[in-house]
Amino acid sequence: MPSLKECESFIQQLNSSLKNFSFYPKGHPYVAQPIKRSYEMLSNFFKESDEVNISSIEGLIWVQNIPLPSENMWDYIMNVFKVKNKDNLKILKNITFKEWEDFVTKVALIKEEILSDEFSENIVFHSIESEDIKKTAEKVYTEAIDVVKNVISEVRMGRIPKADEVKSVVGKMVDMVLKDKQTMIGLSLIKSYDDYLFHHSVNVTILSLALGETLKIRPDLLREMGTAAMLHDIGKVSIDPKIVLKPDKLTDEEWEQMKKHPVTGYETLKKMEGVSEVVLRVALEHHMKYNLTGYPEVTKEYKLHPASMILSICDCYDAMTTHRVYQRCHEPREALEFMTRMAGVSFEPNYLKAFIKMLGIYPQGTLVKLNTGETAIVSSPNPSSPDEPVIKVIYDIFGTKLEKPKIYDLSQKPVDEETNQKVIIVGTVSATWQDIEVQEHLRD
Ligand SMILES: [Fe+2]
Ligand SMILES: [Fe+2]
Repeated sequence: MPSLKECESFIQQLNSSLKNFSFYPKGHPYVAQPIKRSYEMLSNFFKESDEVNISSIEGLIWVQNIPLPSENMWDYIMNVFKVKNKDNLKILKNITFKEWEDFVTKVALIKEEILSDEFSENIVFHSIESEDIKKTAEKVYTEAIDVVKNVISEVRMGRIPKADEVKSVVGKMVDMVLKDKQTMIGLSLIKSYDDYLFHHSVNVTILSLALGETLKIRPDLLREMGTAAMLHDIGKVSIDPKIVLKPDKLTDEEWEQMKKHPVTGYETLKKMEGVSEVVLRVALEHHMKYNLTGYPEVTKEYKLHPASMILSICDCYDAMTTHRVYQRCHEPREALEFMTRMAGVSFEPNYLKAFIKMLGIYPQGTLVKLNTGETAIVSSPNPSSPDEPVIKVIYDIFGTKLEKPKIYDLSQKPVDEETNQKVIIVGTVSATWQDIEVQEHLRD
């Protein structure tokens, strides 16, 4: 841990270089010296730690975990956090002098559009609170996967699982969806080829909760719906795995087996303690389709539970956007376009509309083409301006993977350095979507 004095002199140097830029040009010793000194101090910090954190918390500047005395007014640094609307700056060990100098220069010549740029990958602004939410959300996601795994292995062993654990983790998922829906939706992009059923159950739960919240469903029903979503495909456990994972088209007989999973699931769940009517109905109804032409067969008068109609939308979307042995995965927009054609047939039209609106015209994970010729992935949709999401440029105009992806918040109207043009999305790309490690790009 560095001493308070070391932290103070580092901030002092950084603040001076920022301040002196207002009076002296780049390269002037009054500007250059403090940049050089602060870089030397950074290198010292890196002897003990791989990153240096500067934070602005309740009017104080903190370096690593040390708050600096309040009598020092680090106005210029404070202002950077204010303009950037973030409260933490992470500087990573590999930072070169050139990167540090560029960063200080850009920040000193403060202009909002310049600050919307990301700097080198070794310097990242964060928001402390949103970082915490992200970490908690990831923890809840992992916990939910474990819970589904347990329930499924109990059923496989012929035991009757209890619903308590499912309910408890669903409670946490509801909290997280209410707190930060987009982060949770982002996690639903985690797909697993091998553990398809576990991830599918959790992803469908997140999407159903998010859609339920969008439709302003009561929190108690939201929780029931979450439990239902976690358990909706439990009937698949009883089907021969060779059928569930078969890469080719199912034979008529195999299809008949597959179609039994809603009823089998309903019967399994009925034996479980503490399972509500909604959970049972969702398991039974999730493949019936909006116009009741699905399975199991029912009469025309049958009334689907709203939770079943919500779940079937999320179920289809997650299944379509996951790569499986027998199915290439669809890019999010492609899946939504397909589903739109099924409005009123498979899906309740208003719920589907709300679902599409919730995901935005460019849902997280969508590959987009830019006017610069580059290819980017949508890392965060922007509900207030749907065609201006935050994107991460991952391929250059020749389709070569960038070593350092560029991040643009399109709502900040970024300008391409080479062409001087405003960067905009001109279309989506679907062909290569499955080749890209979406998670890799969305989770870092
Ligand atoms: Fe199903
Ligand atoms: Fe499903």
